[in-house]
Amino acid sequence: MLLRVLGSAAGGGSPQWNCGCPVCAAVRSGVGLARTQSSVAVSTDHRRWFLINASPDVRTQINAFSGLHPHDDRTTPLEAVLLTDAELDHTLGLLLLREARALRLYATPAVRETLCVGSGILRTLERYCPVEWRAVSPGADLALADGLSCRAFDVPTTKRDRFGAGVDHGRVVGYRLTDERSGGTLVYLPGVQSLTPALRVEIKGCACLLIDGTCWSDDELVRLGLAGKTSREMGHLPIDGPDGSLAQLPSLGVGRTIFVHMNNTNPVLLEDAPERRTVEDSGMEVAMDGLEVQV
Ligand code: MLT
Ligand code: MN
Ligand code: ZN
Repeated sequence: MLLRVLGSAAGGGSPQWNCGCPVCAAVRSGVGLARTQSSVAVSTDHRRWFLINASPDVRTQINAFSGLHPHDDRTTPLEAVLLTDAELDHTLGLLLLREARALRLYATPAVRETLCVGSGILRTLERYCPVEWRAVSPGADLALADGLSCRAFDVPTTKRDRFGAGVDHGRVVGYRLTDERSGGTLVYLPGVQSLTPALRVEIKGCACLLIDGTCWSDDELVRLGLAGKTSREMGHLPIDGPDGSLAQLPSLGVGRTIFVHMNNTNPVLLEDAPERRTVEDSGMEVAMDGLEVQV
């Protein structure tokens, strides 16, 4: 299975248009790489690709990746879109795919409900192209294509969508993808508040984990004066600290751990930052756009 990171930053991207924090300023000055908003593409045959989440940068992301370029008759290798949640940074791109002849969408009933009656994205999209919704049930195996299966799992969170439909179960999921030929497994978890025992079971032993790296420290945004809430209060487990992901992940026996969905304030975005060195010295990685992983 091949996974390509289409976008490695959190909502707003890096740099964020209205942010002058030290990391955004460094990226603007060319010291750090710019990053688009969180999304990945997965394929086992290099012919059919599954997007996990559709970011507001999806058009740029597809243009930057030849694997997703259309054939001469307007059919495209984009087979379907899987959603982890209904957040705008993961779903606004659906509207930008409206020229599709048809779209297949995998999402939990809760996410679908929010996209219909909350943000309204799905209702609008359906006026432009037929959307075939496939219900995702956490815990159930799903055959995506020959030799590619996946299982969604519930990711508990206290974070509320601003436009949520009030449903609790299945509001956020992660995906465990399996290449049935190679046996390789990959877990995609761009939003996680806490590594509960159930989540540890889902992650344990996978060949590659792509996990929420939104903030380096829990009080990152508070200290910068950019928000009143900590990272955890916003639904994101910080990387650093005694209960951070860096401390907790090594016991899970994961082959390769890659942080994704970094907020524009996160110092790990800069290659020469000490925080970046700490991550890399722990044997973990910070994703950049275009990174490819084979399992
Ligand atoms: C989040 O996950 O908290 C988001 O990236 C915020 C956003 O999309 O604005
Ligand atoms: Mn986000
Ligand atoms: Zn910033």
